[in-house]
Amino acid sequence: MRRLRKTGLLRGLVRETELSASHLVYPMFVRHGIDGRVPIASMPGVDHLSITAAVEEAGEAAALGIPAVLLFGLPAAKDEEGSGAWDDEGMVQLATRAIKAAHPDLLVITDLCLCEYTSHGHCGVLRADGVVDNDLTLELLARTALSQAEAGADVVAPSDMMDGRVGALRAALDEHGLSETPIMAYSAKYASAFYGPFREAAESAPAQGDRRGYQMDPANAREGVREAELDAAEGADVIMVKPALPYLDVIRRVKESTSLPVAAYNVSGEYAMLKAAAAAGLLDERAAALEALTGIRRAGADIVITYHAKDVARWLR
Ligand code: PBG
Repeated sequence: MRRLRKTGLLRGLVRETELSASHLVYPMFVRHGIDGRVPIASMPGVDHLSITAAVEEAGEAAALGIPAVLLFGLPAAKDEEGSGAWDDEGMVQLATRAIKAAHPDLLVITDLCLCEYTSHGHCGVLRADGVVDNDLTLELLARTALSQAEAGADVVAPSDMMDGRVGALRAALDEHGLSETPIMAYSAKYASAFYGPFREAAESAPAQGDRRGYQMDPANAREGVREAELDAAEGADVIMVKPALPYLDVIRRVKESTSLPVAAYNVSGEYAMLKAAAAAGLLDERAAALEALTGIRRAGADIVITYHAKDVARWLR
């Protein structure tokens, strides 16, 4: 007998996992006070963008068949509370309006967190003892969600990991007539070393301490399922696992435990690692990236958030 896959013509017919641009989300960094684009040193191929450049970049993604972008903002100034996050004229809000006006069919997802906006770099307000105040932070996140949704965000994506934030955001959005804005929850978000390049890009490394008080222990998979269940019960519309490659088992377990769509974030460190190896001539970037992203899809991710999105869309053309 011949194994089916060895019959060349049948290879497509028996392929179990499809990777295409239509599953991808492209993250972008919109920065105050720059003209055009400024390369991000820690993430080759990724730039800080002005509003105009962000509209152009979003247009390129859309033209390549990528259905969604995920926006991060670098504000003019940071403060203790992170007030730039809910500034109606903030970078994310301005970029959202501009992108939606130019590319109405492109889905704009806004990352919802305070760490890019706080002077101390934590994802919430700090109490006098240096610990993040969970419940006070919820109010600020709710304000931010409203500001982003009012600016036209199609989906808000809380990445802060405060307890109860999905419920708090859902209630706030509903109360303000924004019941049709879905929530993509960073549910199983691990305290990971793989966020290093992003923190350089977002200038959001905590000045003191780390995020282990609110992000998850990499040793725990069942807890990831539990976080997903809690977020689903609070009204999440999409469940996210982050990072992706060291957590493929978590993606699989979450996928099997929920009927909601599952997203996986192929984070900055995963991207930078591959870029560095490719630049050193150690592996073939295209083959390795396609294999890694196919693996993330195979693990169960419906949606893959990746800095490689535009490359992948081109490669798969
Ligand atoms: C904000 C946030 C982070 C990332 C996405 N949203 C950083 C962090 O938690 O420190 C990381 C994304 C990446 O590494 O690509 N809380």
